[in-house]
Amino acid sequence: MALRVPEAGDQLPMVTSSVDALQHCRWSCGFECFHEAPNRSEARTFQDVLQEAVSRRAVMKAGAGAAAAGLMLLARGPAAVAEAVSSPIRPGRSGLEVQAAGRLRFTPIDLPVSSVDAFVVPDGYTHNVVIAWGDPLFAGTPAFDPAAQTPARQAAQFGYNADYVQFSPLPAGSGSPHRGLLWVNHEYTNPELMFPDYDPAAPTRDQVDIELLAHGGSVVELARRRDGTWTYVLGSAHNRRITALTPIELTGPAAGDPLLRTSADPTGHSVLGMLNNCAGGVTPWGTILACEENFNQYFANAAAVADERTRAWHARYGLPTGPSERRWELYHPRFDLAAEPNEAFRHGWVVEVDPYDPDATPRKRTALGRFKHEGATVTLAADSRVVVYSGDDERFDYVYKFVSDGRYRPGRHDNGQLLDAGTLSVARFNPDGTGEWLPLVHGAGPLTAANGFAGQAEVLINARGAADLLGATKMDRPEDIERNPVTGAIYAVMTNNTRRTAAQVDAANPRGPNRYGHIIEWHEAGDDAAATTFRWDIFMLCGPAGDASRYFAGFDPSLVSDIATPDNVLFDQAGNLWIVTDGQPGTIGRNDAMFAVPVAGAERGHVRPFLAVPSGAECTGPAFTPNEQTVFIAVQHPGEGGTFAAPLSRWPDFAADRPPRPGITATWRAAPGDPRIGS
Ligand code: FEO
Ligand code: CA
Ligand code: CA
Ligand code: CA
Repeated sequence: MALRVPEAGDQLPMVTSSVDALQHCRWSCGFECFHEAPNRSEARTFQDVLQEAVSRRAVMKAGAGAAAAGLMLLARGPAAVAEAVSSPIRPGRSGLEVQAAGRLRFTPIDLPVSSVDAFVVPDGYTHNVVIAWGDPLFAGTPAFDPAAQTPARQAAQFGYNADYVQFSPLPAGSGSPHRGLLWVNHEYTNPELMFPDYDPAAPTRDQVDIELLAHGGSVVELARRRDGTWTYVLGSAHNRRITALTPIELTGPAAGDPLLRTSADPTGHSVLGMLNNCAGGVTPWGTILACEENFNQYFANAAAVADERTRAWHARYGLPTGPSERRWELYHPRFDLAAEPNEAFRHGWVVEVDPYDPDATPRKRTALGRFKHEGATVTLAADSRVVVYSGDDERFDYVYKFVSDGRYRPGRHDNGQLLDAGTLSVARFNPDGTGEWLPLVHGAGPLTAANGFAGQAEVLINARGAADLLGATKMDRPEDIERNPVTGAIYAVMTNNTRRTAAQVDAANPRGPNRYGHIIEWHEAGDDAAATTFRWDIFMLCGPAGDASRYFAGFDPSLVSDIATPDNVLFDQAGNLWIVTDGQPGTIGRNDAMFAVPVAGAERGHVRPFLAVPSGAECTGPAFTPNEQTVFIAVQHPGEGGTFAAPLSRWPDFAADRPPRPGITATWRAAPGDPRIGS
């Protein structure tokens, strides 16, 4: 995309309703909302919408009058069809039933307005900061000094913008609730908050290298003290940094493909680093899946790529046609597509990391497809095949599922190879509440050489293009996906889509524009995660009080908290859904927060705010200890929207000479019996 930096006075997308929020757009996704969505596949036609309206009415009325109703809608035009498709929301269509209702007894917080620079927890709870950007991980690493930062120091420090978090007990398999390894994704950097003298038009070599080394992920050993607080273990042999410079192996069907070869790696099997790792998942064998999301923004000059097909594929992934926003290409030519047109094909993958082995080479598992992976949620099919759900976080992009060929076998060390062979599918949400998984298999249907795919490797490298041809449902920025451990139902978050128009709504994305986001739930056929069909329903349409379109699984919306822009989700063992948000300051004027909601029983849909993060921050993580007595939350980009000299937040140090520092908090309830979070 050609980059035009927005200015004050521009008509901003709703999600960025303040100029302060522009820094989030600049660094997290490269001003994605300011470009046209890259999905140019066959636009929904008026006939498509009519067909959905007719079939939906047919289901609702189950009578011959349906076709006539459709024809009347046709006569009234696209707006009438869109309105008919989008309303009313019909709860319970999928017949989702659950027996157990989790107990949620915390006193909800009052959602702080976005100027409140504090980490807020409910009455009776307490928290501490465990680790933050710049904290030294290894013996001999100097203490953090923002005025003396160097690439060498950053390589040995906790990285920037903490996102996905996973707690892995120590020893492995012990289930220990008070000692473990924390995996943390470092999604991106905010150089205007990191450096006192940052010039976006001319970053220095050291600044660029510090940014590269502040990306990636960290493994850090944690321990709980007797007073309940958590601390990290400086110098632990388990501590590790993975950065944008760490060698990572490419595995699976696309490894070695000509499209993955570069001048530095003529075999196409090894890539330096991982970029923009947002959310992730954990496998039954204890490894972490860290997901490359908005990798496109790091590359420059797609317009200068000579090969026409490569240029078209790069356009489908939103790669910048001119300079990148970060200008890394000034010092690292591999980010210049004019010099290395294939380097971008080596990013946008799911990366498997073993937190227990600091020497293990991370692996990009190409069988899971290449797109802007929000996360990767792992579960098992009825026959123990491994199933991985993943959303492609882009407006009008898709929800995917991978099913392994082989079966999981507990205790074996080679289970990771299960992620190298299987079937990737993409979801179609039909308007009658049914759904289908459409396989991305070369040679099947339209995925042929005649349509530009030479083999399965290319189907995986250009998964978006393959999914376009299959007719997948264009979603409102698919984010995290989780499976309810009690019922087996699946929940998928759509964070927002301010570009969807009223004429583009469909049953699964029923609002245009979608300012506040929504959550879809489904049951796979037979509750088998490997099924090829499912039944789905809308679980939640987010929004502030007073928004007439909001919907909470039938619960009285007047009793429900404001909530907007859901992003990551997590289930507790009782089957309650925990939701963290990304973007409430720009949409409802409140700090981002963590909420809990039962999905069963009389309280189904009753959303309550549990905690909130400081000014400018996004609420990410989250992760429970195995006993669910502690929840770890990542405070991502506190103070975003300000500058090093005048940040919007000073969290967590609250010192005038210190920039804000993204970091990890631990929250627990100090009460007899070590109660579970929320109980
Ligand atoms: Fe990095 Fe989709 O949020
Ligand atoms: Ca996210
Ligand atoms: Ca997000
Ligand atoms: Ca999750």
